[in-house]
Amino acid sequence: MSVWTVLLAAGSGTRLAQASGGVKKQFLRLAGKPLYWRSLATFAQCPEMAGIVVVFPPDDLDEARAELTALLAKKDPGVAVAVTAGGVRRQDSVANGLAALPAGCRTVLVHDAARPFVDAGLIARVLDALAAGAGAVIPALPVTDTVKEARDGLVVRTLDRKSLAAVQTPQGFDLGLLRRAFAAAGEGCDVTDDASLVEHLGLPVAIVAGSPENRKITNPEDLALLAERAAPAHPVVGYGYDVHRYADPLKPGKQPARPMKLGGYPILGAPEVLAHSDGDVLLHALTDAILGCVAAGDIGTLYPDSNPDFDNMASGVFVSEALILARSKGLTISHVDLTIIAQIPRIHPHAQAIRLNVAALLGLDRSQVNVKATTEEGLGFTGEKKGIKAVAVVTGLRRPVTDPDAPAS
Ligand code: CTP
Ligand code: MG
Repeated sequence: MSVWTVLLAAGSGTRLAQASGGVKKQFLRLAGKPLYWRSLATFAQCPEMAGIVVVFPPDDLDEARAELTALLAKKDPGVAVAVTAGGVRRQDSVANGLAALPAGCRTVLVHDAARPFVDAGLIARVLDALAAGAGAVIPALPVTDTVKEARDGLVVRTLDRKSLAAVQTPQGFDLGLLRRAFAAAGEGCDVTDDASLVEHLGLPVAIVAGSPENRKITNPEDLALLAERAAPAHPVVGYGYDVHRYADPLKPGKQPARPMKLGGYPILGAPEVLAHSDGDVLLHALTDAILGCVAAGDIGTLYPDSNPDFDNMASGVFVSEALILARSKGLTISHVDLTIIAQIPRIHPHAQAIRLNVAALLGLDRSQVNVKATTEEGLGFTGEKKGIKAVAVVTGLRRPVTDPDAPAS
């Protein structure tokens, strides 16, 4: 079986145009390469595949051909690759693709480049059915929604779901049969898939199992699927720990003592602290935990206490800047768990106010922030009321950030 694939990438992607900034969906970036490349690579890996004709929009033909040539030079897919221009309708693009097939081709698969997550198993099921003698094969999934025929906002009738199938590509054909079907259909016949033309001839079309993963990128919400598949997010944990000493009440004025703040919230009547910036031990631990999630060092490196600019600085600024940095490195915070360790003051009366402050600072819901406190039972420096500790644990999801200007590799 000499098998070729017609890879359709000649649409205008109108339903996605606004969300994609006008980029036609087949040219959207997926892991640094145009979307259609994913399907091309998958088809090229099929042992039966002799070649692939990629159909591009006529207006983009030169530019797309140049990019494809560069990609092929970097990674030889091991099959012949040809390029042709598409037409106004999808079926016109298919016809142009068929016209570009070489003389020896007997079997053709037609695939939408807008379905980048096609897999080798699905292609094999289509090819196996063709090898077993079918002239036309389509992959399909059972329909899970009830489907109704509708007109002018009113239901005409309900279709029997058990007899319905949601059809995908690649659709596979005996090339002679598909050419005959195109010729018989003529210009006036509008179809949305190629098997319809074979159905018009009254010939059988076999169905094999489709794949739920093989979704067509069609509407703006499908872009999230692309982002997730291009760079899957992975869970991260950041840990922060900080200690501040209490000012000695017997040596007033000798040290740069600050009124105590925790989570940006003033704790009236509490011991004063000796520390960097405004001395908010909890926000310092939180800043370190955020930086920890994205391997960005610690607060001391970013804001050295030797720098007088940071003297008396509100620690919320450190948190906000750490958050901006972490977001630029792909972090989305899921949850923050904060523990304050002190003999004095009593934290419990302030815990809710601190929690709300921290949630607002991070743009999180209060349910994503926990504030708790403990003493150390009179032991150690907190037990001796000489200082205070804070521990922050930040959990989140981190998505690798790719440089949009980086060359395709
Ligand atoms: N296609 C094509 N030539 C056309 C129209 C569509 O090659 N004249 C291709 C698309 O590039 C896509 C596939 O057919 O890979 C399925 O079509 P569809 O999802 O409708 O894509 P578009 O037509 O590009 O999008 P839209 O309908 O939103 O404009
Ligand atoms: Mg279309």
